[in-house]
Amino acid sequence: MKAEPARLTPEQTAFLVRQRVARLATADQSGKPHVVPVCFAYTPGSIFIALDEKPKDVPATRLKRVRNILENPNVALVADRYAEDWSLLAFVMVRGRAELLEPGAGEHSSAVRLLRGKYHQYEKMRIEENPVIAIRPGRIASWGALDASDGERLQVLDTVRGRRSVRRYLAREVPAGLVDQVLEAARWAPSPHGRQPWKFAVITKERTKERLADAMGEEWRSNLEMDGQDAEVVEKRLEGSRRRLFDAPVLVLLCLYLEELDAYPDADRQRGETTMAVQSLGAAAQNVLLAAYDLGLDAGWMCAPLFCPEKVVEALDLDPRLIPHALLTLGYAWGDPPKRRGRKPIEELVVYRD
Ligand SMILES: Cc1cc2nc3c(=O)[nH]c(=O)nc-3n(C[C@H](O)[C@H](O)[C@H](O)COP(=O)(O)O)c2cc1C
Repeated sequence: MKAEPARLTPEQTAFLVRQRVARLATADQSGKPHVVPVCFAYTPGSIFIALDEKPKDVPATRLKRVRNILENPNVALVADRYAEDWSLLAFVMVRGRAELLEPGAGEHSSAVRLLRGKYHQYEKMRIEENPVIAIRPGRIASWGALDASDGERLQVLDTVRGRRSVRRYLAREVPAGLVDQVLEAARWAPSPHGRQPWKFAVITKERTKERLADAMGEEWRSNLEMDGQDAEVVEKRLEGSRRRLFDAPVLVLLCLYLEELDAYPDADRQRGETTMAVQSLGAAAQNVLLAAYDLGLDAGWMCAPLFCPEKVVEALDLDPRLIPHALLTLGYAWGDPPKRRGRKPIEELVVYRD
């Protein structure tokens, strides 16, 4: 077991952000311990835990864990993996000081957002009305096979709901074998006539990212300027987008390849054929995102290539018949994404016609 100060290593972070449940240990002034299972979200420097009991049942401040924190802020949180194959056992333990963030405080609302982004169940719970526990890590200890994501394959629906867009990654290499598995998932996407009208470019080298960033940045700059955006805003947005390309260990460029599709004499059917190809590119993209998440990685989607396909082809020296559509980033999330959007209620999306 190794103990180290406040910063989690990339391996510890990657393990912690995958876990859905942890145990929170608090103690009262006399040191009497109390442990409860908790849902949590992590961002570097803080772990947040919601108090989801409704105020009218048990006021949040009456909960034992809260009373303990108010008396004694020293806490410990452990997240672990158990498997019958003991080579997969692992845990991360964070010891630190806890405080209560009151509703209305800026950090409270970002913590609520982070928690809702991770747990869809919180969307329907009024957690914003209660304080949120914030743990500031002091000492971190970990043990075991933190990396063994094979031990924690998810059910499809859990993967679908757990997948999230990640826009900031750890500086941690993605094993080539995992990238291969992600691309294998893309290969199995449904497509019109089974023609698979797509090709993928994988980019990992800094100098290639540089060429891509320059090509897309140039186009975006002129678009933003055309929209009359403030020069300072333009620079900031371009810088953010550029950082995302360099931050992600792996980029997968999804390109449409229409050469093998059916040819029709009329424009309407030809348009339909192209639309189907685009639809199936979306399916391939979703396979990438889901497979990545299932394999313990995270992914993000950047639409920038769609707006300058020729420039991207030129910058990457690709077959000119390819039409770049989407850039998917792959890596290990830096923390739970801070701004994940909630979802519309199902009634807004579905009508039933008997
Ligand atoms: C076609 C398409 C284009 C997208 N383009 C971008 C993009 O350029 N930049 C970005 O940050 N996210 C992009 N996204 C990601 C969405 O913002 C994200 O899926 C949405 O906010 C829902 O969040 P979630 O993926 O975390 O559930 C795109 C998604 C799709 C499907």
